[in-house]
Amino acid sequence: CGIIGYTGNEGDVLDVLMTGLSGLEYRGYDSAGVAVSNSSLSVHKREGEVSALEAAVPDDDLDGLAGIGHTRWSTHGPPSDENAHPHTDAESTVAVVHNGIIENYQELRRELEADGYEFTSETDTEVIPHLIRAALDTGADREEAFREAIHRLEGSYAVAAVFNGSETVYAARNESPLVLGIGDDGHYLASDVPAFIEFTDQVVYLEDGQFARVNPSGIVVTDEQGAVVETAIETIDWDPEDAGKSGYDHYMLKEIHEQPTAIRKCLRERVSELEGTIDVDALADLEHDGPVQFVACGTSYHAALYGAKLLRERGVPAQCFLASEYEVDAIPAIEETLVVGVTQSGETADTMSALRAANQIGAMTLALTNVVGSSAARECDHVMYIRAGPEIGVAATKTFASQQVALAMLSSVLSGEGSMEFVERLRDLPDQIQKVLDESNARDIADAYEGSDAYFFIGRGYNAPVALEGALKMKEISYEHAEGFAAGELKHGPLALVTDQTPVFAVIAGDTNVSKTLGNVKEVEARGAPVVAVTDSPEQVGQYADHVLEVPSAGPLLTPILANIQLQLVSYWVANRMGRSIDKPRNLAKSVTVE
Ligand code: G6P
Repeated sequence: CGIIGYTGNEGDVLDVLMTGLSGLEYRGYDSAGVAVSNSSLSVHKREGEVSALEAAVPDDDLDGLAGIGHTRWSTHGPPSDENAHPHTDAESTVAVVHNGIIENYQELRRELEADGYEFTSETDTEVIPHLIRAALDTGADREEAFREAIHRLEGSYAVAAVFNGSETVYAARNESPLVLGIGDDGHYLASDVPAFIEFTDQVVYLEDGQFARVNPSGIVVTDEQGAVVETAIETIDWDPEDAGKSGYDHYMLKEIHEQPTAIRKCLRERVSELEGTIDVDALADLEHDGPVQFVACGTSYHAALYGAKLLRERGVPAQCFLASEYEVDAIPAIEETLVVGVTQSGETADTMSALRAANQIGAMTLALTNVVGSSAARECDHVMYIRAGPEIGVAATKTFASQQVALAMLSSVLSGEGSMEFVERLRDLPDQIQKVLDESNARDIADAYEGSDAYFFIGRGYNAPVALEGALKMKEISYEHAEGFAAGELKHGPLALVTDQTPVFAVIAGDTNVSKTLGNVKEVEARGAPVVAVTDSPEQVGQYADHVLEVPSAGPLLTPILANIQLQLVSYWVANRMGRSIDKPRNLAKSVTVE
C-alpha cells in the first residue's frame, strides 16, 4: 500500500495528493482514496486505480488545509469502496490511512464495538479512527488521542491521520516505511519518495517507534515517549524526469531501455580500469571471511541465486534462501555468517524479517538495495546501493540487472578475486546491453508464439536463475502459464508438460556446458516443442533451434545478464499483444510490506 500526506501552500492539496498517489500506484492499485480537511473532512474513495478516484472527485471540492491519501493492496477484506482508505470515525472527526497489518485488530474491534463504536468496513485499519475517537471522548486532545491510539496497536504500520478543521497531519511508523518531505512552503509525508519527488528532494526518514507532527510551517518528530528527536535532512539525487514515462508506452519498456544507464551508474567509481580492480566504498569496512547467506523474494531471489553461484565459484561458501522460508525452521545462520538481503525496495516484509532474525543471533548483515534510507539500508550493518534509479513498473527489470552487476562486484570484493579481464567485461556490459536493445527480434518471437499453451524456460549454471526469472516475468505480466527449470531437471518430471504448443526458451549464454544443455534441447524437440535459443553461440546452437535470440559474448559470468534482457522483451511483447495491464499486473504490488 502507499500513503501520501500534505500540508502547506505549495500547491492545491488535492492536486498534491493525486500526484502523490499516481507516484505510489506501483505499491498497490486495488483501491484509492483521499481525505481533505477544511471546516469538515471531505473523503473520497473508490475501488480500482487512481484514475477511477480522480474521475469520482468533484471538481469544486478542491480547497483544503491539509490532506492524506492512500492506494491499497488488499490484505484484510477484498477490494471495494467500503474497504478503501481513508477510514473515519462515525462523526468524521478524523480520517486515517494505514499501511501494514494490525495483528490485534479483532480484539480491538470487539472492544470498540462493545463500547458502541460502529464499523463500516472489514479492514484492520478502521480500528484506528475509532480508537482516536474513543480517546477524544475521554477528554484527550487531538495529538494525545492519536498517540494513545497508536500505542494500542500491535503489528506493523505506517499511519497518517488528519482531523477536520486542522492543517496538521499526524503520522507514526513501526516496521512500515514512512518518509517526510521538506518543501519551501509545505510539508509532505509518504511511504516512498516518488510520491513527492516532483515537489521536493529534501527528506527525513522516520524510524520505527517515531511519531511526526507535520504542519505547513514545520515538522516535529518525537519518540514513543513524546520526547522531541533531532532529525537529519537528506537529499535525494533522483531527477523527477526519471519517474516519468519519457514517451514509452509503459514504464516497464522504459525501464528495460534504461538498463545501459543503470549499469553505468552501478559501476561508476567502483571499477578501476587502470588497475583492473573493483572497489566498493560502502564495503570498505566489511571484513568477513566466513560463509555467506542470501535472503530475498521474487525477482531479487533470482538475483541472489546468481550471487550465491558467483561466490561459490570464487571459493566462498554461499547459500541462498527464500526470505519467507528462512526462519520457518531453525535459523540457518551462525554468528560468523554474513547475511545479505537482496531487495530492490529495501522494505519487503519477508526479507526484513529474515534480516532481523539474522541480526538477532549476532550475524553480520548487508543490504543490497536500490532505495536510500529504506528499512534494509538503515537496519543492516552494511549497505551497498545498486543505483538503478526509480523503478515504477511492478515487474522488476532494471533493478534485476543492477542487482546482478552489484552482486558480481560484491563477489569480487568478498572473495578478493577480480581480474583485469573481468573489469573490462563489466565496463563493456552497458554497450552490449544497448546492442541487445537495438537489435532484438524479441517482438517477432512474441508474435510467433502468441496463443501458446504455456512457455517454458531452461538454463544451466548461471543461466538457471535467468530461466526462472524469464518465467516469472512472463507469468507476472502476461498471466500465461510459464515455468522455469534448471535444464537438467526438465527430464525429471516437467517434460510431461511439453507439447508442440509449448515453446521452450533455452538459455545457452556464455554457457560452459553447451553440449549438456543441447542434450536437453533435443529432449524437448523430440516431443515436438518449438525451441527458441537465447545464446551468444548461434553457430553452435542455432541449428538445433527454431528461432535464435542472439546476445553478444560477455564471458560465462555476465552473458546471462544479456540473455535475461531478451527474455524481458519477449514477456513485454507477449503481454502487450494480449493487452495486459503491464505496469500494474493484477493482484501484484511492487513492494509487499506484509509477511
Ligand atoms: C514483490 C514484487 C516482485 C519483487 C518482490 C521482492 O512481490 O512484485 O517483483 O521481486 O516483491 O521485492 P524486493 O523489493 O524485496 O526486491
